[in-house]
Amino acid sequence: MAVEEAYLDRVLTMEVGRCTEAAAIAASTMIGRGDKEGADQEAVSALREAFNKLEMDGTVVIGEGERDEAPMLYIGEKVGTGKGPKIDIALDPLEGTTLTAKAMSNALAVVAMAQGGTLLHAPDVYMDKIACGPGFAPGVIDLDAPVEDNINALAREKGVATSEVTLCILDRDRHQHLIEGARKMGSRVFLIPDGDVAGVFHTTEPATGIDLYVGRGGAPEGVLAAAALRCVGGQMQGRLHFRTDDERARAERIGITALDKKYDLMDLASGDVIFAATGVTNGTMLDGVKWEPGYVNTHTVVMRSKTGTMRYIRAKSRR
Ligand code: FBP
Repeated sequence: MAVEEAYLDRVLTMEVGRCTEAAAIAASTMIGRGDKEGADQEAVSALREAFNKLEMDGTVVIGEGERDEAPMLYIGEKVGTGKGPKIDIALDPLEGTTLTAKAMSNALAVVAMAQGGTLLHAPDVYMDKIACGPGFAPGVIDLDAPVEDNINALAREKGVATSEVTLCILDRDRHQHLIEGARKMGSRVFLIPDGDVAGVFHTTEPATGIDLYVGRGGAPEGVLAAAALRCVGGQMQGRLHFRTDDERARAERIGITALDKKYDLMDLASGDVIFAATGVTNGTMLDGVKWEPGYVNTHTVVMRSKTGTMRYIRAKSRR
């Protein structure tokens, strides 16, 4: 076994959960304070400090922005002690800044790690996404097909009526055609105010009842969601969506060559991926941070694509 692989196996898989714990705890001090930038900043500083204790030669490939716009955890920033294996890191220290500021559910601290060069270096632009959970025939969903066709295909696969199919969609005006299309088919629509990493992940959790995720959200969040699906199973496709020439230029600058490509799961995250998330506010996926006198409680999931193991960790740390 290569040294890098062994390191991913033994150390990082557990350590990365400590990093998201640190980010979530820091962000939780800002829950309900109406300050989304402040909440993000707390999470970013704590995550950076935690990363820098890890023995790795880490490079942020998806982070808080480009070097000139983000002082910490910018794309290309080196993190870790610099001594261990070369690791690519995709991060969203606070996925759901508005959710946190408004004390709404499903805010998470999220990190994905993999061997260098195996995560799509997605710029901070939009991505059109479609995803479903595991257990369906390959190719059952198609980003370019109308939502009605995807609902029909999933209903056929499940052996149920289209009224028994549930979609998760970000509640945005730009998604009105998807919502109307789904409702015309009699399907249920689970609208989320923010947080589409959790939205995509919901398709893999039978308890949510959600079968299909569709819609346009952040491209970095798309890669993080793909990393999670690589660990649990499921299908996903995504295509970058550029609103301006400047956005296209930004993507080219960070090395994207296939600007209009329909990426599949393996294009988004192809390596031996570790995914970790800690709940900031209570959610369907994870409980939020809970403070009590002298202690703070966290709920974290750490998963790895190679083994398919998912570890749910409840930690109670002294404060
Ligand atoms: P923040 O953490 O920056 O608040 O982003 C949350 C989020 O809802 C993502 O989950 C999603 O991908 C994106 O914003 C959607 O963007 P927009 O709010 O512009 O529709």
